[in-house]
Amino acid sequence: ARIAAVIPAAGRGLRLGPGAPKALRSLNGTPMLVHAVRAMARSRAVSLVVVVAPPEGAAEVRTLLDGHALAARGTTEVIVVPGGETRQESVRLGLAALPGDVTGVLVHDAARPLVPVDTVDAVAAAVRDGAPAVVPALPVSDTVKEVGPSADGGPEPVVATLERARLRAVQTPQGFDRGTLLEAHEKVALEGEGATDDAGMVERLGVEVVVVPGHEEAFKVTRPLDLVLAEAVLARRRA
Ligand code: C5P
Repeated sequence: ARIAAVIPAAGRGLRLGPGAPKALRSLNGTPMLVHAVRAMARSRAVSLVVVVAPPEGAAEVRTLLDGHALAARGTTEVIVVPGGETRQESVRLGLAALPGDVTGVLVHDAARPLVPVDTVDAVAAAVRDGAPAVVPALPVSDTVKEVGPSADGGPEPVVATLERARLRAVQTPQGFDRGTLLEAHEKVALEGEGATDDAGMVERLGVEVVVVPGHEEAFKVTRPLDLVLAEAVLARRRA
């Protein structure tokens, strides 16, 4: 079984504020995407990384990656392909670039640059052991409520309070049997874009998705405060 990682990195990152595409912004001097590729390459289970670049930026991303040491072992192959308008389309384009001998796929957001190798290994091991779909997840600390539409621009009404003990915040890498993920992307694409994760698309096929423990450091860099946290985590690792 050969496992590849697909890294969607084609997003603009507008919630982070104006500037370069999110994956190309630096954390302590190194682009977020480079951290993310290294995080995948550090796992012995991953032998190939497919980076999905901003549509107009594939050549720039290739040059950027060539300028950085990516793998401690030096054996992980890295392919760069142009992405699409939505995350879902970007993942689909990454899957289309996989060689025929790949049987398992990890999909990892460039926006989660600090995921520890133990988390990557745990997801890969579950795929190796035959799970069709695996997600790393953590309990949530906030209480989560569902809201309805506001009437005439007034405040949104609360519709329901979800049972916190049963909720999990889901991270990446999410791991899949290759055939299952391809089928999900083919079928769900017909229903429209807008899935926020790949496992959700597999769930809609009726295939069981299992959970392994996630990690606090696999948090997603979305807003400006997340950059502060990511740089502090990196500084602590180097200390
Ligand atoms: O927007 P969000 O934070 O959910 O994006 C998650 C990941 O999907 C990021 O790594 C982003 O670069 C990627 N993405 C993409 N193509 C898009 C939109 C988002 O590869 N069109």
